[in-house]
Amino acid sequence: SSDELNTRISAVREQLGERLLILGHHYQQDEVIAQTDLRGDSYKLSEMAAASKACRTIVFCGVHFMAETADILANRPEKVAERDGAKVTVILPDMAAGCSMADMAGIAQVEAAWADMAEVIDTKKVIPVTYINSAASLKAFCGRNGGIVCTSSNAAAVLDWAFARGERVFFFPDQHLGRNTALKMDITEEQMPVWDPYALEMGGNTDEQIQNSRVILWKGHCSVHQMFRAEHVHGFRKQHPGIQILVHPECPREVNDLADISGSTGKIIDTVRKSPAGTKWAIGTELHLVNRLKAEHPEQEIHFLSPVLCMCATMYRIDLPHLCWTLENLRDGAVVNEIKVDDETTKWSLIALERMLAVK
Ligand code: 13P
Ligand code: SF4
Repeated sequence: SSDELNTRISAVREQLGERLLILGHHYQQDEVIAQTDLRGDSYKLSEMAAASKACRTIVFCGVHFMAETADILANRPEKVAERDGAKVTVILPDMAAGCSMADMAGIAQVEAAWADMAEVIDTKKVIPVTYINSAASLKAFCGRNGGIVCTSSNAAAVLDWAFARGERVFFFPDQHLGRNTALKMDITEEQMPVWDPYALEMGGNTDEQIQNSRVILWKGHCSVHQMFRAEHVHGFRKQHPGIQILVHPECPREVNDLADISGSTGKIIDTVRKSPAGTKWAIGTELHLVNRLKAEHPEQEIHFLSPVLCMCATMYRIDLPHLCWTLENLRDGAVVNEIKVDDETTKWSLIALERMLAVK
C-alpha cells in the first residue's frame, strides 16, 4: 500500500540523510512530490542539481533528459573538487520515463538538417538553440556549434543572446516554444519556416524560405500541450466571464495568443500563488500540476483548460514502487537505473548549459 511504501521510503531517506537528494518536477504525481526534497521547473531543477554540495546521490523524479542534465551539472570538475573528489550518482526511478518531444529530434536527424541547410545559408552565422527537453547529444551539438540550451522560463533571454551572436537561430525540438517566444520579438511567422526531418529536401522548405528565415523551427511538439485548443479558450471565456487563461508556452500559437499569461510551470505556480481569493483560472498545462493547484488553492476557482484530461504518461511512470525500489537498492549498496552521460557528450553539452546558466 502507499502507506507502507511511504514508511519504507522515509526510512531510507532518514538513513542516507544529506547524502541523498530527491528532486521532483512539478508534473509528478502528488505522492511522489510528497517524498521530494526539492521541486521545480526545468530551469530551477538544473540550478539545484548544479548547486548540490553535500549530496552524493540524486534520485530524479522527472524524465530522462532531466536526469542527464543533473548528471552533467552536478559532476562539473569544480563541483567534484568541492566535494573532495566525490562524484554524484544520478538515478532515474524508471528508465522508461522519457519525453516524446525529446525523442522527436534525434542527433543524426539534426546533423543531417544542419548539413542540408549549409547548402543555402552560412551555418557559421546560425546559432543552434536546443530546448532543455532534448537528449544530451543535442545539447552537445549546440555546445560544439556556438549554441546554447534554453528552458521555458528563459527562452526570450536565450534568443536575445543568440541574436547578439548570429543572424539566425535553429531551434529544436519544440516548434511551439520557439514560435511563441520569437513572435514576441517581432519575428513574423513567415520568417520562421518549420523543418520537417522526414521531408525529402530542405526540411520541406524552398531554398528561399530558409534564406529569408530568422528562426528555423524543428517540427516537434509536446503531446500533452498540443491537446489545448483555441476553442477551449473561447468556451471558457463564454461560460465564465472574467476568467483568466494561463498556459504553458509549449501550447500551440493560437492558444498562447489568446491566453492572458503564458509561462513555465514555475511561473504558472507563482502566478496562482500571488492571486487574490476569487480569481478564476483555466490552466493549460499537465493535469497533475493543475489538480495540485486546485487542491492547494480552494480560495480560487481553477479549471483544466481542455475537456480531455491530458497528462504526461512518461512523467507518470515515476511512482512510489519505483522510488522505493531504487532507494532500498541504494541503501543496500546497489545502484540501479543510473544515468551517466559519456565524457565527450558531457564536455560539449556542459558548454551549452553553462552558457544558459550565465544568461540572466
Ligand atoms: P517547465 O517545468 O520547465 O515549464 O517544463 C515543462 C515540461 O514540459 C517539462 O517536461
Ligand atoms: Fe515531454 Fe511534454 Fe511530458 Fe514534458 S510534458 S516530459 S515535454 S511529453
